[in-house]
Amino acid sequence: MKVVVLGAAGGIGQALGLLLKTELPAGTELALYDIAPVTPGVAADLSHIPTPVKVEGFSGEDPSPALVNADIVLISAGMARKPGMDRSDLFNINAGIVENLVSACADNCPKAMIGIITNPVNTTVAIAAEVLKNKGVYDASRLFGITTLDVIRSSTFVAEIYDKDPRDVSVPVIGGHSGITILPLLSQSGYEFSDEDAAAMTKRIQNAGTEVVEAKAGGGSATLSMGQAAAKFGLSLVRALNGEKDVVECTYVEGSGDLARFFAQPVLLGKNGVEKILDYGNLSEFEQATLNDALETLRSDIKIGEDFVN
Ligand code: NAD
Ligand code: LMR
Repeated sequence: MKVVVLGAAGGIGQALGLLLKTELPAGTELALYDIAPVTPGVAADLSHIPTPVKVEGFSGEDPSPALVNADIVLISAGMARKPGMDRSDLFNINAGIVENLVSACADNCPKAMIGIITNPVNTTVAIAAEVLKNKGVYDASRLFGITTLDVIRSSTFVAEIYDKDPRDVSVPVIGGHSGITILPLLSQSGYEFSDEDAAAMTKRIQNAGTEVVEAKAGGGSATLSMGQAAAKFGLSLVRALNGEKDVVECTYVEGSGDLARFFAQPVLLGKNGVEKILDYGNLSEFEQATLNDALETLRSDIKIGEDFVN
């Protein structure tokens, strides 16, 4: 098994690299790529950690050497938000970065599972799909927008107010990954929320990225929690590819298109990526209304990505 991180010298990339080096199964290869020249040094640094995972680092303009024979590619390359910015403000820079990197994936590892972290995720996943499609290698079962951070935040915040261990709290999050498109299904958390409390908690989860951006005051956005979230998702993919059953993650994938071409919801992962897109169950009235309000934004975010490539 070979796992590749593109953007590996960045805030997320380094946290993710560390977690993968310590948690990937024995024998896994970990390849780190970033345009930053420090990347082979990041790999050398990680390689001193005593785990049976082989790390290699690559920098320069061409990601190809890192991508050859990749089974999983996690992409966090690109710019992060500063206070006052919306995720969509990252589009101008990040769209081209994702387009180029996914194009290199199509050329070097067309069967790899690709997980997109780079924002705006609602749009960059659509860009990735169109690039792969134009290259004739698109398989909707192998492309994921990583929305795991919304899921871990939801567990944390719900556990906080109920004074529980967050590892015992699970909240599915559906929709997309920005503002009103992030929809935590608090009605399925096992805890009671009045409409007012559900609205307040939903807003906190939707604004959690901004909470970190403002607290970092110009120093970037969530990196450590995102590193953990991406590692959780990546390790789930590894387990599923290795044949483990019942691996489920909420992730932003192309499904039936009933609501939007791409939509985040619980997905059963398997040897070929998406094994089955699971029903997200019943929504409360509040959740249904929030979803209805979000769909136009989500569809428009997706169209921006499709139009960018085509
Ligand atoms: P960062 O600035 O710390 O790191 C980005 C890295 O990308 C840098 O090392 C940079 O050299 C590299 N890079 C830029 N262009 C590249 C290219 N063409 N090829 C390879 N590497 C390239 O940023 P970060 O905090 O790690 O955030 C990265 C991205 O992840 C941002 O777009 C951010 O908005 C997004 N993000 C997504 C989520 C999510 O939930 N999906 C959460 C947090 C952040
Ligand atoms: C997050 O949710 O923390 C990320 O999408 C980064 C951001 O810009 O908010």
